[in-house]
Amino acid sequence: MRLAVIVLAAGKGTRMKSDLPKVLHRTAGRSLLDWVLTAAGPLGADETVVVIGHGAEAVADSLPDDAVGVVQEPQLGTGDAVRVGLAACQRRPDTILVVPGDMPLLTASTLSSVVEAHHTGGAAATVLTVKMDDPTGYGRIERSGDRVIRIVEQRDTDERQRAIDEVNTSVYAFDAVLLADSLGRLGTDNSQGEYYLTDVIGILNEDGHRVGAVVADVVEGAGVNSHRQLAAVGEVLRRRINDGLMADGVAMIDPTRVYIDAGVDVAPGTRIYPGVHLEGSTTVGEGAEIGPDVHARNTAIAAGATVRYSVLDGATVGSDATVGPFTYLRPGADLRDHSKAGAFVEIKNSQVGSGSKVPHLSYIGDTTIGEGTNIGAATVTVNYDGFEKHRTVIGDRVRIGSDTMLVAPVTIGDDAYTGAGSVITHDVPAGALAIERSLQKEIPGYAERRKHRASQDGQ
Ligand code: UD1
Ligand code: CA
Repeated sequence: MRLAVIVLAAGKGTRMKSDLPKVLHRTAGRSLLDWVLTAAGPLGADETVVVIGHGAEAVADSLPDDAVGVVQEPQLGTGDAVRVGLAACQRRPDTILVVPGDMPLLTASTLSSVVEAHHTGGAAATVLTVKMDDPTGYGRIERSGDRVIRIVEQRDTDERQRAIDEVNTSVYAFDAVLLADSLGRLGTDNSQGEYYLTDVIGILNEDGHRVGAVVADVVEGAGVNSHRQLAAVGEVLRRRINDGLMADGVAMIDPTRVYIDAGVDVAPGTRIYPGVHLEGSTTVGEGAEIGPDVHARNTAIAAGATVRYSVLDGATVGSDATVGPFTYLRPGADLRDHSKAGAFVEIKNSQVGSGSKVPHLSYIGDTTIGEGTNIGAATVTVNYDGFEKHRTVIGDRVRIGSDTMLVAPVTIGDDAYTGAGSVITHDVPAGALAIERSLQKEIPGYAERRKHRASQDGQ
């Protein structure tokens, strides 16, 4: 058996009201098209052809290496789309699986059950159907027992057909030769003047071939045509992701408020609080506690780390490190094990060594901090002179006093100190104290004199 998958993705998606082609809209970490291609992946098809049209270039660019895009222009209907897709097949497939590009809830097991039923039933075609409380708008399945006789589009239904609650999902397995033959005989004599793929089912029956059906859970039949439907399928995808993680030993207080992308890796023994978004290539190690309210993108969080009320983008958080509340870790922030970034701290392109702490109100950019160092509250690395970024290097066991400005490029040696409120513009040798501030002056009796002056002015 040689299998080709043809994905229909040429449509515009007018109701998305967006320049982005419909199938490129994303939810739970993948585009709609990626969800469909991922579901089809385990079938191990010999080739995958994606029929593209609206936004063809962007859709083609998004395709994985093992899928081929073919442009359908103009778009003359689903029958025409499959004809274009079939013409692009290179491996002489004997079975064709047609899948719309906008049905992200289809599962691998459902798609395999269609192909399997198709082969075991010896059918010319096998349609994936669902039963709907309100089938309005969908093609209705006309059956005779377990055979599908024809599919009638909503606009062409009569009253009896409108009452049929079993509908076409637009997922089908076909015998390739019979499909090619039937497609060649399609007409456009229907209310939309299009080549309907659904008419192939009637043609196969007229030729005396058998068409079977597989009935799926209605959830899997959901297509996306609007942002509202995109949000609805996102909810189901997130639930599947969170259910899978919880089954693997991840604790969630309220999984309905946890937003974890496909592809994010969360280890068992982790506790995820509400309001957590984990996106892109983010990973979370065993026993970490994340949230409440954390947005992490492309960030590696190691085992035992704690991250609360914070934004992390392209950062690395070492084991048993603590982040937050209200911390902003930007690309290249690299917190080593047992380190800390606390409240109102922003760190970018900097390494914070093992056991070092940046606990309060600081900006650390383009900096290397050694081990066991403490950065006093309100310290700023002054890394930008308006033209170029410069590096700050801080050694091991350093005590940076509160409100120190470290004007880069500057190096603070191991075991050194800086006095609170200093603007440090020169390197500080190991073990030294650097202090930069004018001498303090006291004016005794000032308050009394001031009070006296005020009472005289008032008379
Ligand atoms: C189609 C089916 C209908 C089924 C419904 C399920 C037909 C005639 N009708 O109707 O029985 O219940 O899907 O959602 O097939 N596409 C192209 N090129 C085209 C036209 C469409 O690639 O020229 C793609 C679209 O991007 C979309 C898919 O085919 O992914 C379905 O097309 P659409 O126009 O949405 O079909 P429906 O009217 O929904
Ligand atoms: Ca000062």
